[in-house]
Amino acid sequence: MKIYSLVYVSTMKENLSEIKFQELMHSSYINNHINDITGVLILYKNKFIQIIEGESSKIKLLFSKIKVDNRHYAVQLLAEGFIENRSFQDWSMAYYNPSIKNKTLTTEEELKKNLLTFLNKDILKNRITTVFYNKIMQIFEIQE
Ligand SMILES: Cc1cc2nc3c(=O)[nH]c(=O)nc-3n(C[C@H](O)[C@H](O)[C@H](O)COP(=O)(O)O)c2cc1C
Repeated sequence: MKIYSLVYVSTMKENLSEIKFQELMHSSYINNHINDITGVLILYKNKFIQIIEGESSKIKLLFSKIKVDNRHYAVQLLAEGFIENRSFQDWSMAYYNPSIKNKTLTTEEELKKNLLTFLNKDILKNRITTVFYNKIMQIFEIQE
């Protein structure tokens, strides 16, 4: 089976509460597991960047829901298409947002460190992950 992958950026609604954010993370984790969808969701300040991979009809259906989700806006699709193999083994997330106050959230430095461990050049195997990688470098202002 060919795998479909998609990457987008968006802006989080300013008034999204911590509890609503945690609910979103929890339900996404469960749904993605059930639907065999893998990828990464990153929240940095108020910007989301997400990459998802899976069966094409499942990815398209999920993105049609994400696009109209009122917990964020300005959803901009950066790249989509079929890929040979998945780049991520499961679905994970990393977030840093000073307004979401929770002791378990990572600090900005921790997040950058975590990012660099999974963003090694191994993920540059396909066009979609390359777009994801380059966008992260830009958002985090990481010099290569
Ligand atoms: C930034 C962002 C990322 C999301 N990522 C996922 C995701 O990876 N998986 C998921 O199932 N829902 C995700 N959602 C939630 C979907 O928009 C939608 O609410 C969810 O799929 C439940 O839809 P349903 O109740 O119609 O099945 C995300 C929402 C936002 C705002």
